[in-house]
Amino acid sequence: MAERKPIIAGNWKMHFTHLEAIQVVQKTSYRLSEKDYENAEVVVCPPFTSLRSVQTVLEADEIPIQLGAQNVYWETKGAYTGEISAEMLQKLNVRYVIVGHSERRQHFGESDEDVNKKAKTVLRHEMNPIVCVGETLEQREAGETHDFVGSQVRGAFDGVPRTNAGRCVVAYEPIWAIGTGRNATPDDANSVCAMIRSELRALYGDTADEMRVQYGGSVKPGNIHELMAMSDIDGALVGGASLDPDDFARIVTYDR
Ligand code: 13P
Repeated sequence: MAERKPIIAGNWKMHFTHLEAIQVVQKTSYRLSEKDYENAEVVVCPPFTSLRSVQTVLEADEIPIQLGAQNVYWETKGAYTGEISAEMLQKLNVRYVIVGHSERRQHFGESDEDVNKKAKTVLRHEMNPIVCVGETLEQREAGETHDFVGSQVRGAFDGVPRTNAGRCVVAYEPIWAIGTGRNATPDDANSVCAMIRSELRALYGDTADEMRVQYGGSVKPGNIHELMAMSDIDGALVGGASLDPDDFARIVTYDR
């Protein structure tokens, strides 16, 4: 089986001015040693308004944290007030772009088709999408998790060729676990992540073994270790706990 380097990403959501963002990324880096970056790829995803400032700090101080964005629009340019293109992100040395976060699906009506167009746009611009999927509590209780999440995966990857698939990341984020303090049990999270990989295997064969599947939803320093011990969980997409440099650094160094 292919070696998959874990990927721990902080999704800052709508938090921090650019001035605060600079402090947070600096403080986070002070708490991490060179060795920590060997164990896991570390990504921070600030709001658009902080990308430039965070990029400048990361590059000036040679901090090996990768820059991520939280969203993108699929059109290349034009009359799309308020939107941000992939080229704009690429030129800021953004490496990862979250697409299809459940908050975007819920509050901004993003469909699987939109997520698919965004993922393809990100790939065309040589960045890597973090494709988010996950079920509601009602779907889980109705036993629909695998069907629903499977269909989200197929929708997001529709027409994405195998040559590009290896650099895509999937984040399994059950909606009921996001910001609630109620994380999925490691076994439940692993079983859905394994199902996601079997969907990817059906699409991409062995390439699926290179693709990283993260878990997200109330990841904290106290539960990261047991989540990362699972065979099909290759990292975490961290919301609330990534806002605190101490907590985020403890999550990144989960294996200590
Ligand atoms: P929390 O870690 O705050 O539950 O958020 C998870 C998330 O939505 C990351 O994208």
